[in-house]
Amino acid sequence: MGAEPLEIHLDDRDLSRSLRRDVRLGLTATEKWLPPKWFYDSRGSELFDEITRLPEYYPTRAERAVLAARATEIAELTGAKTLIELGSGSSEKTRLLLDACTQRGGLGTFVPLDVSVSALAGSTAALAADYPGLRVRGIVGDFTRHLDRLPTGGRRLVIFLGGTIGNLLPDERAEFVAGMRAALEAGDWLLVGTDLVKDPAVIVPAYDDAAGVTAEFNRNVLRVLNRELDADFDPAGFAHVALWNAEHEWIEMRLRAERSMRVRVLDLDVDFAAGEDLRTEVSAKFRPEGIAGELAAAGFRTERFWTDPDGLFGVTLARAA
Ligand SMILES: C[S@@+](CC[C@H](N)C(=O)[O-])C[C@H]1O[C@@H](n2cnc3c(N)ncnc32)[C@H](O)[C@@H]1O
Repeated sequence: MGAEPLEIHLDDRDLSRSLRRDVRLGLTATEKWLPPKWFYDSRGSELFDEITRLPEYYPTRAERAVLAARATEIAELTGAKTLIELGSGSSEKTRLLLDACTQRGGLGTFVPLDVSVSALAGSTAALAADYPGLRVRGIVGDFTRHLDRLPTGGRRLVIFLGGTIGNLLPDERAEFVAGMRAALEAGDWLLVGTDLVKDPAVIVPAYDDAAGVTAEFNRNVLRVLNRELDADFDPAGFAHVALWNAEHEWIEMRLRAERSMRVRVLDLDVDFAAGEDLRTEVSAKFRPEGIAGELAAAGFRTERFWTDPDGLFGVTLARAA
């Protein structure tokens, strides 16, 4: 059947407008921050894929173990006709679900949605070649803005893997889950992967690997700003920092200025004091009761909750009530 042309809900103008807005907001705040979606240009998407293969990065392996063990059960329970993946990236682990759903029969369409055009172009071409009977319909979009554009009809299974839901701050997450419920019909399904709270000695190295790939990924956001906004960040002048925040039970990735710097971006002169941090990502870790509670508050009933054998990562299958 082949991949259909990508459906674009975020064109270059939208992206540039929202990047400018985020930069203005985040870099003029008292505690500087940027949203993590700007990591993912083509280099950032490649670096993320490299991260998933690092020895320290347990979440991908642990989530894959759950999907390998449960894919058939998920296909049977949901009887999905349309599989929609948010923040799909390379959709590598998703193949386990595509295999199970196509084997069971009934799955007609796969709809990956991502902000990264390069990730989508690569994944949709590869998947269309490997699943010739499947309609592959990639959407370039933002899952915080475009949930109302998801395809309707048929029994839908929406998947949100990789712990990406943890990159949303708690109020953004509540808004996202409510928006997800509003986009679905009663009886549709949601499968969410969440990294679990555990000893920070296990979590922190996953965000601060020995080979320095995560550091490169983190600094990549500065390269995106230099290229897209003609900014003059010196990425080498920022150190990669991964911090466990015990109060919020999340990891923060930051870029720490190694000396005082003035950076020109848009019409702003942004001053960094030596040692000042720019927060680039939050990655929340969850407890099973917390996930079920957040889903229930938005109108989802948790039907199954699984973890890998080591209890590192959780996968929840919930149904729109
Ligand atoms: C942590 S990676 C996970 C990739 C893949 N799902 C996995 O499990 O390995 C996050 C993915 O979400 C995408 N992404 C981040 N923010 C997004 C947003 N607001 N809307 C759509 N995609 C987003 C990124 O481009 C990236 O592909």
